[in-house]
Amino acid sequence: MAAGRHADRTVIVTGAASGIGRGIARRFGEEGATVVVADVRREPKQGERYDTDVTRPTDELVASETDGDATFVETDVGDPESVETMVEATVEAYGGVDVLVNNAGIQIEGDSQTTTLEEWERSIAVDLSGAFYCAKYAIPHLVESGGQIVNVGSVRGFEGGGGPPYAAAKGGVVNMTRDLAMELGDDGVRVNCINPGYIETPLQDINTDEDVEKSREQTLVPRFGTPEDVGDAAVFLASDEAGFVTGANLPVDGGWLAHSGL
Ligand code: NAI
Repeated sequence: MAAGRHADRTVIVTGAASGIGRGIARRFGEEGATVVVADVRREPKQGERYDTDVTRPTDELVASETDGDATFVETDVGDPESVETMVEATVEAYGGVDVLVNNAGIQIEGDSQTTTLEEWERSIAVDLSGAFYCAKYAIPHLVESGGQIVNVGSVRGFEGGGGPPYAAAKGGVVNMTRDLAMELGDDGVRVNCINPGYIETPLQDINTDEDVEKSREQTLVPRFGTPEDVGDAAVFLASDEAGFVTGANLPVDGGWLAHSGL
């Protein structure tokens, strides 16, 4: 038997091949969980600005370097059938679902005039609908296990920025968190959202050096965040220690939102 706050729990982490999801998967593994790495890809993304030496698939990393276990299930969260199949495969393999972490996301560069309709639809499908599809298919199993949902929003979900579909989707995730918490409170399923600030992942490749400098000024802590910073918060929110926390939107942003009084 594994030891830790999530010993022998089954945890689905979407978008766990790279970046923040990988950090979340690693932290759950360190807490003894079996992690389902649900991603469109198995190989980690090779970011240009960060993570350039990351080559090992997350499932291998978690299985060999932590107390937990992991498996990869190819999943496109923007496709409801793919999500349903992934949840069914998880239940078949492990007998249930204890935690769902909705982390998968994309950010496409552009403003209202340069964003194409296809980019709008894909962003909303992955960043917003994906979180709903995963919740919809996992909730019956979470009700059965008394499990938890942790969403990954963004500071952009509060103050905008990041392009129209990204800001809209993340604002949607923030508010859907509250709605699902209201729906599921009586069932013992807590639903919370982490809102990261600037975290060093391949997603940051879209930024210019000037954008990075602005982000440094916006961040009160004298460093950027790591995937494990977000992982620590996810492990906490899904743990029994957070038993009285639901419907919450937790910034893990080095103080980014303090400027806006949110
Ligand atoms: P990333 O680009 O490094 O990793 C995202 C992962 O999601 C990749 O492994 C990718 O293959 C996967 N993915 C993309 N589309 C998918 C789909 N349709 N189905 C399943 N998996 C898919 O990005 P990062 O930075 O790790 O972002 C993770 C989450 O954190 C996203 O929701 C992002 O919006 C959010 N976030 C990130 C911030 C940052 O500073 N990096 C700040 C605020 C929020």
